[in-house]
Amino acid sequence: MKILMICLGNICRSPLAEGILSSKLNSNSIFVDSAGTGAYHIGNQPDERSIAVANNYGIDISKQRARKFQVSDFDIFDSIYVMDENNFQDILSLARNHQDKQKVKMILNEIHPNKNKSVPDPYYGGEEGFENVFRMLDEACEIISKKIQK
Ligand code: 4NP
Repeated sequence: MKILMICLGNICRSPLAEGILSSKLNSNSIFVDSAGTGAYHIGNQPDERSIAVANNYGIDISKQRARKFQVSDFDIFDSIYVMDENNFQDILSLARNHQDKQKVKMILNEIHPNKNKSVPDPYYGGEEGFENVFRMLDEACEIISKKIQK
């Protein structure tokens, strides 16, 4: 089982999602990765505010490096969780077929099915934005971890 977390820059939200889900898994047979729809931050470490909030919860995301989503990711990953509506449209526009499209899911639909709620982009906000994002992703990843470890 391979899971990919997607946001715009791959420095704030999806690195947290990757770190949080990984921390909940005890199986080596599940691979979790993250990527961005944009190329602005390729090769960069996660935002220092994401590193800090994860650290407060005992999760180290500092070794992650940002990369951009590639069409070949559709061949590698079983599920592709996006943070917001823009990510959803961007990834869907790259899908080659029905099977690709079916892999793309709004991550907060795990908590609020079919509501298509977005994880707010915390990039231009303050620390509490990152705390808020962490809690949302923690709740969603708890549900995902239970589903995939069944
Ligand atoms: P992320 O946040 O998509 O959660 O990584 C952002 C990071 C950087 C930018 C936008 C969103 N940016 O425009 O540089």
